[in-house]
Amino acid sequence: MTLIHPNATVADSAQIGAELVIMAGAVINPYAQLGKGCIVNTCASVDHDCNVGDYVHVAVGAHLCGTVEVGAYTWIGAGATVSNNVSICPECMIGAGLWS
Ligand SMILES: CC(C)(COP(=O)(O)OP(=O)(O)OC[C@H]1O[C@@H](n2cnc3c(N)ncnc32)[C@H](O)[C@@H]1OP(=O)(O)O)[C@@H](O)C(=O)NCCC(=O)NCCS
Repeated sequence: MTLIHPNATVADSAQIGAELVIMAGAVINPYAQLGKGCIVNTCASVDHDCNVGDYVHVAVGAHLCGTVEVGAYTWIGAGATVSNNVSICPECMIGAGLWS
């Protein structure tokens, strides 16, 4: 089951995987891709052309700028910001509040 809060914004052109949760205030911008089992938590954002692997958690208030790649099972900590065009490997954690 895919759950998208009514106060989340998901672009029509975004590709959303199965069994995924998008919480209130989250924004998924055009041409972003999210794999299955992801969580985009409260007020987090995934910007244009990002490619987010399966089972990634984008924690509360974290932001992925445009064209970011995130490998499967990675956790982006609360309030972290990932600058545009950065690639993050699978199965890692970006600490809360960090910039990369
Ligand atoms: C990165 C993280 C996993 C590290 O946890 P940990 O392995 O238990 O590490 P520790 O708490 O023992 O900290 C180790 C060192 O890293 C520093 N550190 C830990 N997290 C940090 C962060 N987010 N930013 C900057 N420094 C950090 C600590 O100050 C400590 O420094 P010191 O050795 O100089 O004292 C954790 O701090 C974190 O950020 N978790 C994310 C939580 C989150 O986003 N939850 C969201 C739920 S929606």
